[in-house]
Amino acid sequence: MGKFSKKKISFAGPMIGKKEEEYVLDALRNGWYATFEKHTKMLEAKVCEYLGRKYALGTHCCTLALHLACASAGLKKGDEVICTDFSWVATAYSIVYTGATPVFVDIDPDTWCISPQAIEAAITEKTKAIMLVHSFGHPAQMDKIMEIAKKHNLKVIEDAAPSLGSKFDGKKTGTFGDSACFSFQGAKIAVSGEGGIFVTDDKEMYERAVLLANMGRTNSKKNFWSDFVGYQYTIGNLPASLALAQVERIDELVANKRKIFGWYYERLKNVEGIKLIKEKEKCFSNYTYPSALLEEVDEKKRNFIVGEFAKRNIHSRAAFPRMSTFPALEARYENPECKKVEEQGISLPAAHNLVEEDVEFVCDSLLELLGKKK
Ligand SMILES: Cc1ncc(COP(=O)(O)O)c(C=O)c1O
Repeated sequence: MGKFSKKKISFAGPMIGKKEEEYVLDALRNGWYATFEKHTKMLEAKVCEYLGRKYALGTHCCTLALHLACASAGLKKGDEVICTDFSWVATAYSIVYTGATPVFVDIDPDTWCISPQAIEAAITEKTKAIMLVHSFGHPAQMDKIMEIAKKHNLKVIEDAAPSLGSKFDGKKTGTFGDSACFSFQGAKIAVSGEGGIFVTDDKEMYERAVLLANMGRTNSKKNFWSDFVGYQYTIGNLPASLALAQVERIDELVANKRKIFGWYYERLKNVEGIKLIKEKEKCFSNYTYPSALLEEVDEKKRNFIVGEFAKRNIHSRAAFPRMSTFPALEARYENPECKKVEEQGISLPAAHNLVEEDVEFVCDSLLELLGKKK
């Protein structure tokens, strides 16, 4: 194959088939006026059925679903929310939108998910909720987290953005917390372009979220009447039609991602200095983004590898910077495990269209750039 792949080895990319084409075409032709929410309602019903949740609300994206989760949990100025420091910043900003303060804690180095011990250590009398992320599809340690939440009477919000189809102890992610949110953004396991969904079993939270997502429109005095300031957050019917097809195929999508991870695992499992993030006990990951810690390199070398990959037509990603280091948030947290991942973490390509030879090329390139033998 040489040192350049003719095929773009993409970080992410969807699996689009006949079902997707059919549903989108149906939405395009028929999803207007009286049926303008047809596919949205079908998507919400399908997600409820799949998860065994009572209520779902489709949103323009997961960030907005997370805002609804925080707002419907009653978070406000003066409240603290214990939050992982390792995530896309949407996780933290959704807390900030409500006026509440994210308190950033460290991760479990084996899963890159929030550390239950760190949660417990950060609880104060102001703590109102825990915001966890099922990082890159790996489930967080939900037994411990729910135990802590119960003991301290805290709400739990699952940022399940990349984790549709993952499980902890046989139970699907997104079914543990008071609410949970998934993303259908284009790099996720199931896509709609932009898209998200909020789920809960709590009728009051759901009804509050629906009102907030629809401009506070109650129609209480007349049609179009709004009783408080709300937002326009709902998903469009067209993206919902695509998300619906994808959710109906989620088992197939998960199986494909797990197959891709398996190819990486076979080649990298015994390489010293490469720590692949693999399912921990009781965990079932959808492996949306197969990731590794390059234990022997510094940040500069990790970035060099990402750059060299790009020259070979391989699209990888450096791991997230700690959110607590962003100017809009507060830089007063240590979180050494997050720092390590920030500097040495890499997510490897896992677009749905990869074949084993692509993964082999990525692994060979990685070993070469690390100066390791095949
Ligand atoms: C952990 C996490 N939370 C939230 C989001 C936000 O999702 P969206 O882009 O659908 O708003 C993402 C998106 O990448 C994410 O990875």
